[in-house]
Amino acid sequence: MSQIIHLAQVESTNDEIMRRALAGAADGLWVQADRQTQGRGRRGRAWVSPPAGNLYASTLVRPKQNGPPLQQLSFVAALALVDCLIDYAPEIKLKWPNDALLGTRKLAGILLEAGQGPRNDKWVVVGIGINLNTHPADVERPAIDLASATGFRLTPQEVVASLAEKFSARRLLWEREGFAALRGDWLSRATGLGEAIEVRLGQETLFGRFVGLDTDGALLLDQGDIGTRAVHAGEIFGI
Ligand code: BTN
Repeated sequence: MSQIIHLAQVESTNDEIMRRALAGAADGLWVQADRQTQGRGRRGRAWVSPPAGNLYASTLVRPKQNGPPLQQLSFVAALALVDCLIDYAPEIKLKWPNDALLGTRKLAGILLEAGQGPRNDKWVVVGIGINLNTHPADVERPAIDLASATGFRLTPQEVVASLAEKFSARRLLWEREGFAALRGDWLSRATGLGEAIEVRLGQETLFGRFVGLDTDGALLLDQGDIGTRAVHAGEIFGI
């Protein structure tokens, strides 16, 4: 069983795990906080984190040698999130690479950050934010919360306990079998599959049809005459 530490307030649960990792914390540690004063999302965005019953939690992954590529942990986390919420929100969808949606609105996000200790030991912090009971207005992608969409009011404490269990189970399979253990389940929950999408990669924007996932988790974008391109990092628009 994973150790879960509950704190009333932190700057960011990712920072809290980083700090504890540097001090030697064990693989599998979770930190969940009621409130974050400097919660952050991907691409430098803020993650609004009031003390209003949402989940802000992070876990420490100290990778095994010669294990699968660590960026695939976002698929491990996304599927753990689905496993955890499926009974309450059967229509939950995943948006490549790191979001969970209800309809077209964002329910949850995942932020992976890598760290390294003084003896060259490496780790990854997997941070997860879920809008359980409230959601921010005025964000770039419209958001939704579980309670207003489904009527289920879950507490962050009960959700983090279930998430920790589901994450361990998905992680174990992934470490044994690689990305193949995740690919089919992820695709069966994917939003936008087969549709025309726009993918932004820093300066460049690509257009095409989202036709699947490569064997390593890259998004496969059919660009017609140009061919099919595997996109390893970027953000989807248009769905
Ligand atoms: C995103 O969709 O941009 C990712 C959002 C990740 C938010 C979570 S909340 C817990 C952890 N601590 C943070 O500061 N961020 C992540």
